[in-house]
Amino acid sequence: MGYVGPQEAAPIIMDGLKRLEYRGYDSAGIAISDGSIRVSKAEGKIVNLEVLLEAEPLAGHIGIGHTRWATHGPPSDANAHPHSDPSGEFVVVHNGIIENFQDIKDELAAHGSEFTSETDTELLAHLVAREYDGDLADAVRKTVALSEGAYAMVVMSSREPEKIIAVRKISPLVIGLGEGETFLASDIPAVLHHTRDFLIIEDDEMVIVTAEGASVETIDGEPIDREITHIDWDAEQAEKGGYEHFMLKEIYEQPEVITETLAGRLSEDGTVWLEDVVFDDAYIAELERVWITACGTAYHAGLIGQEIFRRILRIPANVEYAHELRYADPIIGPRELLIAISQSGETADTLAAARIAPDHGSRMLSVTNVVGSTLSRYADDILYTRAGPEISVASTKAYMAMLIAQYLLVLRLGAARGTVDEARARAVAHGLHSMPAAIEEVLRREDEVVAAAERIVDADDVYFIGRGLDYAIAMEGSLKLKEISYLHSEAMPAGELKHGTLALITEGVPVVAIITQRSVYGKTISAIQEVKARGGYVIAVAYDTDTEIERHADMVLRIPDMDDLLAPVAAVVPLQLLAYHVARLRGHDIDQPRNLAKSVTVE
Ligand code: F6R
Repeated sequence: MGYVGPQEAAPIIMDGLKRLEYRGYDSAGIAISDGSIRVSKAEGKIVNLEVLLEAEPLAGHIGIGHTRWATHGPPSDANAHPHSDPSGEFVVVHNGIIENFQDIKDELAAHGSEFTSETDTELLAHLVAREYDGDLADAVRKTVALSEGAYAMVVMSSREPEKIIAVRKISPLVIGLGEGETFLASDIPAVLHHTRDFLIIEDDEMVIVTAEGASVETIDGEPIDREITHIDWDAEQAEKGGYEHFMLKEIYEQPEVITETLAGRLSEDGTVWLEDVVFDDAYIAELERVWITACGTAYHAGLIGQEIFRRILRIPANVEYAHELRYADPIIGPRELLIAISQSGETADTLAAARIAPDHGSRMLSVTNVVGSTLSRYADDILYTRAGPEISVASTKAYMAMLIAQYLLVLRLGAARGTVDEARARAVAHGLHSMPAAIEEVLRREDEVVAAAERIVDADDVYFIGRGLDYAIAMEGSLKLKEISYLHSEAMPAGELKHGTLALITEGVPVVAIITQRSVYGKTISAIQEVKARGGYVIAVAYDTDTEIERHADMVLRIPDMDDLLAPVAAVVPLQLLAYHVARLRGHDIDQPRNLAKSVTVE
């Protein structure tokens, strides 16, 4: 959030931060200039920062502020933004991730720089100060050229005290235009009560903001004539970015989440760097088994993990519900890795199961979305999912990031164990890097999913079937549907249907069949035929290239053709949308389903 104009900047910025507070954050900070810059920041809720500002108000007509969701370094006063260079003349706030963080840090340190935080953002402040030669915009341009990643950054300097400079590379950024005052924010609702006229900044653009307005240019300094967007949304719509619900917004954020989760971690040739996974190749070589533990949607992500660990690493892998594992007295050896997956990192059952690892002398790796969460503090190794705050109770984008994280992990382990050759690693890396575009394509087909939702909205029961990785996706599709549409649903391996559940398939009963895995294609077709023979209504999720499926299914939801190993990542999206649209047609409170909470911190 930023402001420049005739009013006191601090109250306007604090108000803007509070309007985005519902998205979750772990610390907050503000920098105000009245010629020289003063910074105030505090871990925890914005109210902590307000207390500081009451004791020591910051006066001035230009400023920037930020609420942080930790990526590098845990939540703390020191890690909160804004960050300054050592002179205090340049301050930066930043969303997103600088991928070549370590290289920049090493280089700055080699020249004697000392740091006051563990963040990548502080490095940006150092770089801007180093590159400054009388032109702030130019210093920012040079800093951007040195910084790889997906981010938005905002810079202010006492050397040029009338302006704020901001850059967007993927992370959102908007400018609000007032009368003799200008606002800057990561999203529209922060300033919608001040103005309805916005400049929407696009990727690889820079904007120079003064009280008189804002000039947009390319990152190379070419001017851009950006039209003003007039926003008619009310405050509630604006919070959801114009989407009807957070769940839909989060489904649509998934391509970006994949990009973020991969950022700086996966090269074109399939080499993987995982910053907080600290075990070495010798440990990996001796690994005898992988355990995965989690609950709910995170458990379903673990089902994918189990399959890909077995397939790629050729070692035993088991996923267990955390509430079961904790009381199962499992036989876990010291050469076995326990992976605990949790979006929140606070699920009581998962925390308890994760504690089993140290009791057996084995390592625990946590896959979590929340930096500094209890689970991350218990862990020996951490793989952060970088999905950003998830607001809808029904998890979508966090699940997506859990899948991507596990593909990264399997590539890392597979390379060290020699079970993934170069060609395979390169192919999987290519598939992962292409995934955001593939998901965009699936999202463009939402209308087809709406038609499927209309077909099943009045059903009493819906069944989901699939084999192997498709079965894991069936489980997640079924859970999504039941938790928000309150429609009874079950998932099972396609081959299991004939062992009992087929008795429930009668005329018109909907069965969603996920059919992407080529090695068992014919087997899933057989199950579909069993359903059709009883009058069931089959909605298939299949590749674009699958011409056979139309002869068997009543309706087909298509995904782009891809490596079967990665297909779950794309195949889950139509199922998320299906659950969403059924719930919408049934008129439910989608973001807050009855009886459910976002974080289950009780046993
Ligand atoms: C379903 C859902 C839950 C959670 C589960 C675990 O949409 O969100 O099933 O996945 O409660 O939560 P975390 O991942 O925070 O441990």
